Amino acid sequence: MITSNPFILSLCLLTLIAHSSSSNIGCPKCGTIDVPYPLSTHDNCGNQKYKVYCNITTGLEFISATGINYKIISIDSKSHRLVLRPPVIQKDTCESSDLHAGGFRLEDESRFNISSRNTVMLFNCSNNILLSPLDCSTSSICRQFEKVESVCVGLLCCSYLKDSSMTNHQIRVRVDGCTSYTSMVDMKPSAPIDSWNFGIELQWLAPFLEL
Ligand SMILES: *[C@@H]1O[C@H](CO)[C@@H](O)[C@H](O)[C@H]1NC(C)=O
Ligand SMILES: *[C@@H]1O[C@H](CO)[C@@H](O)[C@H](O)[C@H]1NC(C)=O
Ligand SMILES: *[C@@H]1O[C@H](CO)[C@@H](O)[C@H](O)[C@H]1NC(C)=O
Repeated sequence: MITSNPFILSLCLLTLIAHSSSSNIGCPKCGTIDVPYPLSTHDNCGNQKYKVYCNITTGLEFISATGINYKIISIDSKSHRLVLRPPVIQKDTCESSDLHAGGFRLEDESRFNISSRNTVMLFNCSNNILLSPLDCSTSSICRQFEKVESVCVGLLCCSYLKDSSMTNHQIRVRVDGCTSYTSMVDMKPSAPIDSWNFGIELQWLAPFLEL
């Protein structure tokens, strides 16, 4: 039925809004951890475009485009951000545990992106990387990491800020490229290493902005 009555029209609109928000149900806690909307651990709660995995014992995990789970170490639902624990770097080989998958990757159509507050460090790089605009100098921040972690010592390393000039869907590593990486959030260049905030920060697009 088509009506030009503004009252009926707005009623229809209200019904539509009420209907669409009725599915905006947050998910139950994952163990002791809150799961803020739109994150979804089940088909019947949250928004299905924001799937995360709940392991009752170890907490929430984010599943990458290549099917690798990364532990979620913090969530700030107000600013639509969450932080993942970077993959383990194998001490003996200087390889990230997700090297075989090419590093960290998000689906092209993902509602998440890698935020511009990440400073990424790449280790055990081949000389080809020197052609890139990354900072691979002896004063690169990655040299500091070497000192504390004693992984990948003496191998070529580089760092870069994941700003708008970079892809925000991938941190790439590969054999014969750079074989491992880590990331820290909101780095202050002069801050002491023990205050570094290691993590891969993702940001999500709020569902109500969708058309
Ligand atoms: C939860 O995590 C633990 C430790 O990583 C693992 O052993 C277990 O299989 C996981 N459980 C599920 C249901 O994924
Ligand atoms: C560094 O990368 C090369 C290949 O790119 C690999 O053969 C080597 O095992 C890696 N690790 C170390 C410690 O050199
Ligand atoms: C990531 O997504 C957010 C929310 O849509 C957006 O504001 C931000 O600019 C994006 N960040 C990058 C690095 O593209």
